[in-house]
Amino acid sequence: MRMVDIIHKKREGGALSEQEIRFWIEGYLQGEIPDYQVSALLMAIVWRGMDAQETALLTRQMAASGEQVDLRFIPGIKVDKHSTGGVGDKTTLIVGPIVAACGVPVAKMSGRGLGHTGGTLDKLEAIPGFQTTVEPERFLQIVRENGLSVIGQTHNIAPADKKLYALRDVTGTVESLPLIASSIMSKKLAAGADAILLDVKTGSGAFMKTLEESCALAQEMVSIGEQNGRRTAALITNMDVPLGYAVGNALEVREAVETLKGGGPQPLQEICLQLAANMLCLAEKGPLPHCLQLARQALESGQALKKLREMVVLQGGDASVIDDPSRLPAAPYTRQVCAANDGFIVRMDTEQCGLVSCILGAGRARKEDAIDYGAGILFSAGYGQRLQAGDPLVTLYTSRPETLQEAERLLQEAITLSPQPPAAEKLLYARVTKEGIESL
Ligand code: URA
Repeated sequence: MRMVDIIHKKREGGALSEQEIRFWIEGYLQGEIPDYQVSALLMAIVWRGMDAQETALLTRQMAASGEQVDLRFIPGIKVDKHSTGGVGDKTTLIVGPIVAACGVPVAKMSGRGLGHTGGTLDKLEAIPGFQTTVEPERFLQIVRENGLSVIGQTHNIAPADKKLYALRDVTGTVESLPLIASSIMSKKLAAGADAILLDVKTGSGAFMKTLEESCALAQEMVSIGEQNGRRTAALITNMDVPLGYAVGNALEVREAVETLKGGGPQPLQEICLQLAANMLCLAEKGPLPHCLQLARQALESGQALKKLREMVVLQGGDASVIDDPSRLPAAPYTRQVCAANDGFIVRMDTEQCGLVSCILGAGRARKEDAIDYGAGILFSAGYGQRLQAGDPLVTLYTSRPETLQEAERLLQEAITLSPQPPAAEKLLYARVTKEGIESL
């Protein structure tokens, strides 16, 4: 078999066979196929696409290129969750504990922030002492004991994806539905869960800006999961506004804890209950309305909060911050930004809000940058709320006072106030399963 023939075949719109995909992935990982040939193939895929079977085969091959976590010794149906990334998305910190409190084990590998979007690992590391690098045996032991553990992806999960992603990043080949879907799902398959719930964000703060694109990505990922023997469903959720009021690591942990204590912004609570209920459904805990009730009980009874607290203890963190979140790291400089005129909040450029939080220190401009855990933004008002000129809109937090002016300017630009109230905020747009798309 020759790589050049595989490139030709895809260039002409052919479907690659299992043997061809294996030849490509194994050869590339072993250094036998050079970057330039793989780049040519990736570009051909960008233009010609891949059918559902090819995409599922590619995903399986990438998942098999490294370690595959074996969760069989943990009793019950293990359900994973993946979010395509957003601003203020602290749902894993709330949903994981709710699901675990309902008796469904959650053994989750999470990622770090990327671009304007935050990452669960960075949020967890805002808790003093919390360890996200945990030996596989210990990870499984924590899940067996507590039903919940969230750690960083081990180095050897889907190494073929790591190598391909780095190449895609510099060859203009990131934007391809089969390549994005297979990249995400290869890591999910390798993480070993029996079922997967995908939270596909849509809107100005999301990777996919339109509902059509988000549904297409969700369908592609659901198809990959199902073809690889995992029950998979996706919810399309709103990322046209930041999720909750807090954006930034310690601020988001605080909001997650408040939500688990029964407070927190209502839309955040609602979306977390929906995500948890859908995970419980995938774990065969009953029909969706019943699962929603189970999730609500776990939240209201405080059982979910207990799960989070226990995970913090077992992973070496200071659990006193769960009891008293004011003990979380705080940034020394703050600035209150006020509404410039009267009106309803009708638009929040969510990507820009994410960028503001990064400028303040909550994210990284380069991979090796350190995070300022206390940095970020805390809204005083949300979408649809009416403000008068001078009312507090948001507080900026940072350890770098020189960033405050630019952050304030960008934030004012990101928020639009209008005399007319906007349409009601929609939290959920659709549920995607192997049966199709159900509008919500
Ligand atoms: N996230 C991934 O893991 N892979 C992609 O290709 C895009 C986003």
